[in-house]
Amino acid sequence: MLVGDENGLYKNCLLAVLFFIGNNVTIVYIFLQLLIFCKIKFILKVIKKKGGLKLEKYKIAVIPGDGIGTEVIAEGVKVLEKIAHIDGSFAFSFDYFPWGCEYYCKTGKVMDDDGLERLSKFDAIYLGAVGAPNVPDHISLRDLLIKIRQGFDQYVNLRPVKLLAGAPCPIKNINREDINMVVIRENSEGEYAGAGDWLYKGKEQEVVLQTSVFSRKGTERIIRYAYELARHENKTITSISKGNALNYSMVFWDEVFSEVGKEYPDVKQYTYLVDAAAMFFVKDPARFQVVVTSNLFGDILTDLGAAIAGGMGLAAGANINPEKKYPSMFEPIHGSAPDIAGKGIANPMASIWSAAQMLEFFGKKEWSNKIIRAIEKVLTEKTVLTADFGGKASTKAVGEEIIRQLSLLC
Ligand SMILES: NC(=O)c1ccc[n+]([C@@H]2O[C@H](COP(=O)([O-])OP(=O)(O)OC[C@H]3O[C@@H](n4cnc5c(N)ncnc54)[C@H](O)[C@@H]3O)[C@@H](O)[C@H]2O)c1
Repeated sequence: MLVGDENGLYKNCLLAVLFFIGNNVTIVYIFLQLLIFCKIKFILKVIKKKGGLKLEKYKIAVIPGDGIGTEVIAEGVKVLEKIAHIDGSFAFSFDYFPWGCEYYCKTGKVMDDDGLERLSKFDAIYLGAVGAPNVPDHISLRDLLIKIRQGFDQYVNLRPVKLLAGAPCPIKNINREDINMVVIRENSEGEYAGAGDWLYKGKEQEVVLQTSVFSRKGTERIIRYAYELARHENKTITSISKGNALNYSMVFWDEVFSEVGKEYPDVKQYTYLVDAAAMFFVKDPARFQVVVTSNLFGDILTDLGAAIAGGMGLAAGANINPEKKYPSMFEPIHGSAPDIAGKGIANPMASIWSAAQMLEFFGKKEWSNKIIRAIEKVLTEKTVLTADFGGKASTKAVGEEIIRQLSLLC
């Protein structure tokens, strides 16, 4: 049927299309299928671009250790699991190792002989704490902690000293922002190299030698690491040593600090003697931003750092092998606290913060920041806190509250 006017032409076209459809159902069906297929392909492409289909997997070796180590690490693992669940683009697998003092009492070894070899297969190590009153501390420390740190060349011990919102501080009238430094402690040699001798034991002429080892390579690399961090974060650097009394090791340290410093004219550089630094940690902590120091001094100063930034329950540490040739290890800096072990009242915040350091190490800085924000929420609300912060909550309850706050942030 032919119609001469415009309306008629439209009508004719419509009829022609309907006629075509009616006779070509299969073609239309194929066309629709093609459209759906293209759309699905596009959606998959977007998901893939965002990393959604490629699930990153991180293998974590967990060494809960002794005393409160087992209690606090359980909460950190729960936080990591929760984050992986919320994010969806990565996952963790946790393998547990029973090493520590209890293991030593049963087997005569703090860690199995093939311990390092087994741990080397992991992406990171998550450690609670080792130590028990019935095992000499130098055995538990040397045969596990130091063995791992040295064996895996974790030469950077990175300890943030930052006063989080809501955290208690024993220094009066301090601005929260004034306590915000990172201490980089040499972690592979120095005073903890384990070199020395014990001559004529028990005799009148008994002599004990404890030798510090400061190699050029070891000293240069830790100082350089600190300079790099200071430059990257646009912060000042402070070297802490004791060149006036330790006339070989620390004079050498100071020289290397100054030599390497010539390559970083853009970084403001300071040096302190360790005794003066200890005083200023308390009197004027704002002086310090990036701090680099030796193994022993770093060990002592970071406990002082913990004291001004909320206490042992809030002090986290990472043992890093920057080259990633070996796994790095993340741990709260506190010990096994035998005085409160088994009571379920230890503060899990330090171990959870060290889990945040692990996430940052894996390139997940956003999640790391979220953990810190969740801890700060718990600290400022003050309703679920452990006894060290004047609360009555259990370790588990604080862990759960941090997870709840984390979920609210997402
Ligand atoms: N990295 C480690 O594994 C490590 C570090 C330090 C000490 N240690 C060992 O731990 C054992 C105990 O050492 P210590 O008493 O000198 O130091 P510690 O850190 O275990 O305890 C010191 C004090 O801080 C308190 N404390 C520590 N962590 C706490 C937390 N999370 N919540 C609430 N309170 C907390 C303890 O109750 C104790 O009063 C020793 O055997 C020591 O060798 C191990």
